[in-house]
Amino acid sequence: MNIIFLGPPGAGKGTQSKLLEERYGLIQISTGDMLRAEVSKGSETGKQAKALMDAGKLVPDELIIAMLKSRIAQADCQNGFILDGFPRTLAQAEELDSMLSSDGKKIDTVLFLDVDEEILADRISGRFTCGNCGKTYNEVSNPPKVEGTCDSCGSHEFKRRADDKRETVVERLKEYRKLTAPILPFYEKTGRLHKINGMLSASEVTGEIEDALASEGLITKK
Ligand code: AP5
Repeated sequence: MNIIFLGPPGAGKGTQSKLLEERYGLIQISTGDMLRAEVSKGSETGKQAKALMDAGKLVPDELIIAMLKSRIAQADCQNGFILDGFPRTLAQAEELDSMLSSDGKKIDTVLFLDVDEEILADRISGRFTCGNCGKTYNEVSNPPKVEGTCDSCGSHEFKRRADDKRETVVERLKEYRKLTAPILPFYEKTGRLHKINGMLSASEVTGEIEDALASEGLITKK
């Protein structure tokens, strides 16, 4: 099964897609994580993307489409994947459908995490991740069980994203409203869109997502 998570910055796309990956053995593909890895490596792609990401702007469609295309062609994606952060523009959504259909594949469902904007900035400013394994935490809603120690790997190193500054979040939200929100009708008209209340607790959101996937016969709820 192939799933898309749509939603504004901080809606919980990464949190929920990692959980589905663990629970149902799907592959999470986060285009944001892929770009951050390229920036860390100092690759040509990373150099092109960095200034745009730091400014809260989307990177060019051609760059991200090429990156996604080569990722979903890899062997581990053949049994299904979860797209976290792609598509972000109508051109990306159309190109995704055409690249999948040329391979006899399709997107089975699109999960839109609906969260009010006032909540998003607080969620993002409270976010931090383990510097070793990448597990995501939140100062308010999801701190580590033992302060300063990662629940998953025991590391004491944590980091924050460069684009999580409040002023950059304002720009990311503008980009979302202008370029990403307009793709919701594209999926709505094909009957593939499920609207999920992303303002519930993370575990309640997971329950809603599992209900949506089960209602389409895509999973048996665990
Ligand atoms: P990307 O990395 O995709 O960032 P984003 O879409 O802005 O989303 P976030 O990762 O900020 O939020 P999330 O929804 O995953 O929330 P999370 O689960 O972490 O993109 C970064 C940049 O890369 C873009 O700005 C762009 O420049 C570029 N880019 C990437 N893809 C691109 C594309 N396709 N095209 C062009 N450019 C692209 O949760 C946030 C916090 O809230 C966490 O602390 C979490 O613990 C907490 N939380 C989660 N759920 C809940 C809940 N239910 N209740 C309370 N707290 C919660």
